[in-house]
Amino acid sequence: MEKKWWHQSVVYQVYPRSFQDTNGDGIGDLRGIISRLDYLTYLGIDTIWLSPVYESPNDDNGYDISDYEAIMAEFGTMAEMDELIEEAKKSGIKIILDLVVNHTSDEHPWFIESRKSKDNPYRDYYIWRDPVNGDVTNSLRSIFSGPAWEFDETTGQYYLHLYSKKQPDLNWENELVRQEVYDMMNFWIDKGIGGFRMDVIDTIGKLPDQEITNNGPRLHEYLQEMNQATFGDKDLMTVGETWGATTEIAKLYSDPKRNELSMIFQFEHMTLDQQAGKDKWDLKALDVSELKQVLSKWQTALGDEGWNSLFWNNHDLPRIVSRWGNDQEYRVESAKMFAILLHMMKGTPYIYQGEELGMTNAPIQDISEAQDIETINMYHERFASGYRKEEILQSINAKGRDNARTPMQWDETAHGGFTTGTPWLSVNPNYKTINAKQAVADPSSIFHTYKRLIELRKHNEIIVWGDYELLIETPAEVFAYYRTLNEERWLIVCNLSEQTHELIIPQEATELIIANYDREVPMGEVELRPYEAFVVKIR
Ligand code: GLC
Ligand code: CA
Repeated sequence: MEKKWWHQSVVYQVYPRSFQDTNGDGIGDLRGIISRLDYLTYLGIDTIWLSPVYESPNDDNGYDISDYEAIMAEFGTMAEMDELIEEAKKSGIKIILDLVVNHTSDEHPWFIESRKSKDNPYRDYYIWRDPVNGDVTNSLRSIFSGPAWEFDETTGQYYLHLYSKKQPDLNWENELVRQEVYDMMNFWIDKGIGGFRMDVIDTIGKLPDQEITNNGPRLHEYLQEMNQATFGDKDLMTVGETWGATTEIAKLYSDPKRNELSMIFQFEHMTLDQQAGKDKWDLKALDVSELKQVLSKWQTALGDEGWNSLFWNNHDLPRIVSRWGNDQEYRVESAKMFAILLHMMKGTPYIYQGEELGMTNAPIQDISEAQDIETINMYHERFASGYRKEEILQSINAKGRDNARTPMQWDETAHGGFTTGTPWLSVNPNYKTINAKQAVADPSSIFHTYKRLIELRKHNEIIVWGDYELLIETPAEVFAYYRTLNEERWLIVCNLSEQTHELIIPQEATELIIANYDREVPMGEVELRPYEAFVVKIR
């Protein structure tokens, strides 16, 4: 495979609303990101994925865009955006923008026109259908609860929205829509960005009448067309958010020969703690054997015909240390263990803001504390259908998206140094002990484990290109694997439980590369302490 810069990159996701406020309105802003570039440079990342900063009424925190070529006033100005791109470049950091083109806001001028009349030139930019027997067109459901069809009085038809009512789906079958999107992408490419993260891109080929949403028949045709019309001949990185991808589908997107995307986000490992056939709110304990099986499959199945991304967290997922680690007694150990487990794998790793500090979930006592539309809609839907309040809150505290969206914890001052005003979402009360200032100062912090892992990736081709092999002979809760490149071989060992476990190191280790406890180079039979993790060179 031809080597590209993004094969070796480590990406850091910034959720601007919660990163750093600089004018005291309680909302993070572009100035805030610029002011923290030094922190990111020190951490060592070379790419930022910036969640949406475009003009938006914020029904879904910027994932409902009303102008793709303007900056949300709360975040700043276009001049500040240009400055961010420029300043980041000086620090060797590329900015990847979020491309949200499955839908727009209902306040986008295209939709305002579209809903005016059936013969409006923009009518066909969206998906409109007649009522069927006086009711919704069919049984498609919105990811944010309720039907995916909303009746519009003016013309007596329904429009499709796979997300909120304020996020009408664009009609990708319309060539004009596709051309508008490509022009907009080129507007940003010309500004010198490093690429795109493509929001729910696997639904642009939908066939709503057949109730097909993901992986529709023309999806890959559209992506090839987009590639040609925009980034194809530039050295950019693209990553698609694809909830419905199998390893075979991943190759369709990311095989370099097919000229589509650099890589995708696949979510198979993120569904292991939900009940089969139900949704994320229906909780089930993680079975580590399943995690081993799923991640190992993704490590080996793509071969030279695709590229992986690696992640535990983003703005839609709960904090990994709270989810599968222990965010109390073993917070530091388990956070470092998850970092080591992921960052030694093959693929491009993503770090979500605050993950490098071991930030934790933020449980709520009452739905009035929630900000996220998905959480709020689900609460009301389940409550109306007979679920108990406690039961719904339990799901929200385990999986709700606000868990990851509480503001960055920079220091021990009021609101964690995020704002001098009132934050749009409360800062986690644990900011006095969990914050960046303290973590940077402490060489044994989670932050320094991340920093070291990033540095190791930069200097060891084996991490980027080595073959992966799962070590089978381990206790069920121990995840161990080899990476091998030419004559060199590393062994990664991670205990995913708070029990101790015995493990025989099959070969003689020569060097300890990284560990989350103080230890000698492990030899022979080793006792693994709670959440212990280490990497050793064995030849
Ligand atoms: C993606 C985003 C999520 C958003 C949704 C609709 O899944 O990550 O935050 O709500 O798409 O745009
Ligand atoms: Ca602000």
